[in-house]
Parts: sequence; C-alpha cells; structure tokens
Amino acid sequence: MTEQAATDGLARQLIAARRWAGITQEQLAGLSTVSVRAIRDLEQGRVRHPRRETLRLLADAMRLGDVRRAALELAVEGAPADSVMRDAFGAELAPPPEPLRRLVGRSEELRALTRLLATEHERLLTVVGIAGVGKTRLAQEAALLMHTRDRMPVLWVDMGTAVTAPASGTVRSPRAALAGWARSLAVGGPGLDELASVIGDRAALMVLDGHDAVPRLAPQLLELLHGCERLKVLITAREPHRTPGNRLLPLAPLPLPAPEPSADAASPLPGQSLTAGEPAVELMLSYVGHMRPDLLPTDSVVRTVARVCHALDAVPRAMESAASWLLLHSLEELLRIARTRPLDLVDDATLSDMNEEGLGALLAAAVGRLDDTQATLLGDLGALADGWTAEQASAVLAVPAATVAREVHALMLRGLVRRLPATGEGASRFGVLNLVRGLAADRAEAAARQSAALVH
Ligand SMILES: Nc1ncnc2c1ncn2[C@@H]1O[C@H](COP(=O)(O)OP(=O)(O)OP(=O)(O)O)[C@@H](O)[C@H]1O
Ligand SMILES: [Mg+2]
Repeated sequence: MTEQAATDGLARQLIAARRWAGITQEQLAGLSTVSVRAIRDLEQGRVRHPRRETLRLLADAMRLGDVRRAALELAVEGAPADSVMRDAFGAELAPPPEPLRRLVGRSEELRALTRLLATEHERLLTVVGIAGVGKTRLAQEAALLMHTRDRMPVLWVDMGTAVTAPASGTVRSPRAALAGWARSLAVGGPGLDELASVIGDRAALMVLDGHDAVPRLAPQLLELLHGCERLKVLITAREPHRTPGNRLLPLAPLPLPAPEPSADAASPLPGQSLTAGEPAVELMLSYVGHMRPDLLPTDSVVRTVARVCHALDAVPRAMESAASWLLLHSLEELLRIARTRPLDLVDDATLSDMNEEGLGALLAAAVGRLDDTQATLLGDLGALADGWTAEQASAVLAVPAATVAREVHALMLRGLVRRLPATGEGASRFGVLNLVRGLAADRAEAAARQSAALVH
C-alpha cells in the first residue's frame, strides 16, 4: 500500500462524507471548528495523517453514522476502507460467533440445513419458528460448520441489535461496519453498493439473525443476491416473510419425550436409559444440573423432568427458564405448574424485570398477530385432545377441510401447532402447543366477543 493511495482513500472518503452530509467546506468548518484551509488540505490530499481529534470533530459535525465514520478512520490508518473491509471479510477473519454450549439433538435439522447451504441453487433460506425454539442456535451451528468445513467467510448480523452510532472518537471494527451495512440493507436502507463491492464474487454466507421487524424482505436484499452470485443468505425469523424465492425451513421444538418412559433394567447408570435418544430430557437435565447440583439424575428425577419437558412442549428456552424456578420450587411443584399454568415458568426467574422480550410476552404477541379466523381456529383446535388429524378437525369443528388445511399450515409455520409422531401409516397428527393453548383460548374468546358486538 503506498502512502499516496492511502491519502487518496482518505481524501475520497472525506469528500464523499461531506457530500453525503450536504454541506460545503465552509459550512463544515463552521460546524466543526476545523479551519477551511485544513479541510481543503485534507480533501486535496495534501495532509496525509491528520490528528484523530480533527477527524472526530469533522465526523461529529457531519453527523456520520458508524459505517462512514469507520471508513474515514480506516482510511487514515493507511489503507482505503474497501480493501480493509475485503481483508476483514476473508475466511480467517470471519467466523460466526462461537456458541457457549453444546448443541443437543438437531442432527437431522443441521444436516438438512447445511446440505441446502452447500448447494448452488439455494441462496436464500429462512429458518422459521416460535420464539425460543432454537433457530439462532441451529443457524450458529450451521454457519460454524460452513466456516470450518468449507472455509466459507460468515457475516453474522444480529438484527435485534439497534443501529447505534459509536461513542465519539471510537472506531468500529470493519466487521461491525459490514454488519451495520447489512442490518441497514435488510430493512430497506442504504448499504447495497458497499456490501456488494466488499463481497463481490466470493463465496460467502450472510446470516440475518432475528429478522423479525419487517413482514417482507427488502428488495435490496434480493438485489444483493443478484449482484453477488456466490453469496448465500440465511435468515432466522419467528414468522415467514411474504417474499417469493425464499425457501422456508420450519423449525419445530425438540421431539417430545414419551409421556411415560419405561425403565431399562440393563442400564448401567440410573436414569441413563430414560435420556437416551431424548434430546429434550438431556437438555433439561443439563439446565436442572446447573440450578440444582444436589438433584441427582435418578430414574424418578429423570421421569419427572421428562414430564416437565412434555408440558413445556420441549421448547428449549421455556425449559431453560423453567429450570431457573427450581431455586424456589421442588421438581414436583415445577411439574404441577408446568401442567396447569406453563406460562408462569417461561420467564427466567433470574431476570427480575421482564420486559416485552420475555418468552411469555413473545408467545402472547405471536398469538396476538393472528387474524380472527386463525385465532378462532387455534382456540378450537387447542380444545381438542392432542393427536387430531386435519380431517378429524374439519369434521368436529364443522370447518371446510380446505380451510383447516390452509390455516393449520399457516399455524405450523408460526410454530403454534406441531406435528406429532405418526402412528403407523395413518394421516399426519397434530397438536396445539401447550404453551399457547391458554393464550389461544383467550384470543378466540376476544374475537368472538368482538364479532358479537359488531352484529348487535
Ligand atoms: N438444540 C439445542 N441444544 C442446546 N441448546 C439449545 C438448543 N436449542 C436452543 N438452545 C438454547 O435455548 C435458548 C433459545 O434458543 P435460541 O436463542 O436459538 O432460540 P430462537 O428460536 O432463536 O429464539 P428467538 O425467536 O427469541 O430469537 C438459547 O439459550 C439456546 O442456546
Ligand atoms: Mg434467535
């Protein structure tokens, strides 16, 4: 990198930023207290290494966002921002975030997802499912595998993070700047040109984790996919986006443990035979073990834990939160509450001031977003014993079969209804999640009251 190139980079970035801010050199001088002459020198490449403070004053005066600010500061450091970005996006430097704990179960889902990510024609995938079901955890594992096995650079974008300007004087890392562009682009803002120039024609995976704020994918995202031919985009979202070309992968909770597991006399360790092949029980036992190391996994403990998992639909976040209540309740009490009032357990006891991000509120919001027809049907389906088929539901509820099929499909995509293991060759059987049964009944009742009020 020659010094001239670096300076040109800075001059170009500064001019672009000032034009973006829509002000003249004189106005910038007035706003920043940097002299017009110093600004002119910088823009003409005569000053190659301005003081950090000068740059900060200019950036503040132009009210630059994190991306432009980072580009400017990186340019001063001796390289044009786009080449720094490109280097930072190389495989060595772009791993996905390392998960803190082991992935339990999910081997089939992981295989299906990574197989799709490895094919050329699937470039836009969305893992969709109810809050806390494990979408982020699965995407993390898949991204990690793509990174280590296929040496694929990963741009991991947490869509839940608010786009905030960095504190005055701080430089965002190139990766943070890239994520900033991606976050902006995903919600329909700028960033397309910048991202397209950095990604170019290299194979890369961009993960938009928790892309829940908008109902449709931004056209810019599709444009980016057109421009960068070897880019793949993996999204996690609680509800499907209504966008053609987006392959949906519905993620159900972990398999439900058998309600009454039978003990295997030949098992070498107490409780072991009961957890074998039951990822939900294995995961819940690990949460229980953290909270109550004194509770040894005897057969009776494991059986009770399996029943708690069942009552909580084997939704990982619900199980994790429920385990936190073991500081207060005995395991038997936990089971009683899980069976009667599961929502009392789904907000973590250790996070006292629960806000709208608590699982209870997220589930209520998911039910709240249903239209009246879906809400009424969900309420009615929730009153049926688990294991109904679409045909039975249609007959019992006197709703046309086509309507039941369409609405159950929509409810499954949102994760409010799950498929249960088939018995023999028969039709698919379904059940409403225990966690949302009460919410669905309340919502259906409200819808009925409203339509009665409209009639009168
Ligand atoms: N298969 C699994 N093995 C181990 N831990 C898991 C598994 N699935 C989920 N978890 C844990 O459960 C919690 C919730 O999972 P995660 O955050 O992936 O859910 P999510 O579907 O992304 O939820 P949200 O819609 O709120 O973003 C996390 O702590 C996660 O690490
Ligand atoms: Mg998530």
